[in-house]
Amino acid sequence: MNILALETTCDETAAAIVTDRLEVLSSVVASQDDLHRRFGGVVPEIASRAHVERILPVIHEALHKAGLALKNIDAVAVANTPGLAGSLLVGLVAAKAICLAQSIPLLAVNHLQAHIYACRLSAQEDVFPCVGLIISGGHTSLYSCRDALEFDLLGSTIDDAAGEAFDKVAAMLGLPYPGGPSIQRAAEGGNPKAYNFPRALLADANRLDFSFSGLKTAVRYAIEKIKVSGTFYNPNPDLDNKKVPDTFISDLAASFQEAVVDCLAGKATAALRKTGMNVLCVGGGVAANARLRQRLSEQAKRQNVRLHIAPLQLCTDNAVMGAIAVERLKAGRFESLDLDVYPGMLRPAK
Ligand code: KG4
Ligand code: ZN
Repeated sequence: MNILALETTCDETAAAIVTDRLEVLSSVVASQDDLHRRFGGVVPEIASRAHVERILPVIHEALHKAGLALKNIDAVAVANTPGLAGSLLVGLVAAKAICLAQSIPLLAVNHLQAHIYACRLSAQEDVFPCVGLIISGGHTSLYSCRDALEFDLLGSTIDDAAGEAFDKVAAMLGLPYPGGPSIQRAAEGGNPKAYNFPRALLADANRLDFSFSGLKTAVRYAIEKIKVSGTFYNPNPDLDNKKVPDTFISDLAASFQEAVVDCLAGKATAALRKTGMNVLCVGGGVAANARLRQRLSEQAKRQNVRLHIAPLQLCTDNAVMGAIAVERLKAGRFESLDLDVYPGMLRPAK
């Protein structure tokens, strides 16, 4: 069976064609980074309008790349939770229209579970049960994943998501959006010990939550301090930053990144201990971070943990991970055309 998967939860318009044997026939991702860059973050209304413009060309391209026509598609899968309401609606309406026109079934995709399923796809073997660490622009959560579709929340951020912290710190430093890759690049050659930034909640191993807003504020103070100590720093690259030490941005980026990595890696270890599991799956945009990947793999070797991190092209939003719909297909969990979007967190399965 050929499944057309659609993903429009945030600012990527994506379509993929996968089979019920988890083969990937095509994948297309239209990024909106250029549209949101000058605002330093995703503007929801711009995102949903851009999805409207892009969804049909993206679907056409996915079909074309797979050498298929709409009549060869046997089901449509669409991410309907969580995400931006307007963005989610565009994917859902497109999916429903195709299902109605072609008389084929509709399958729902939980975007967070799909991020973990990216690990299942690349592992090409079962990865469940596992601890799932989902780290993206909107979420930072740890789950006990009983199987592909049954997740129990172990802990999550009580304020900013990890990706959001990367994006906001990058904006403070005048580095381009999205902030994660910019910070990673800036951190190369920087000293991760130059600033001793806070690792909130890390010391409490019983608590599997995260907090990044204090870290963000600490970075803000470090920037202010360099201003008041007589030097001049302005995030506008056109202005004169001559008096700022050359290593200021790289040291600050490296120290910030190290603090985030310490928290993510530390809480993942705590979750493995608490659940007694020895498989860790990591997905979401921040899982693309090279320093984090290095740390997690060193840690996994030491702790004898089976680690699966989504491959780079499946970390940030894409529709291939919508292949999780195959699990619903096999379980006969089809949706009616009344299916709605759920922008907030997970809803329990009916
Ligand atoms: O999963 P994703 O594409 O979208 C959401 O579902 O939110 O994640 C996007 C987030 C952004 O905050 C971006 O800055 C971050 O992932 N990100 C990274 C890296 N690449 C993307 N963060 C750290 N290091 C990276 N290399
Ligand atoms: Zn995502």
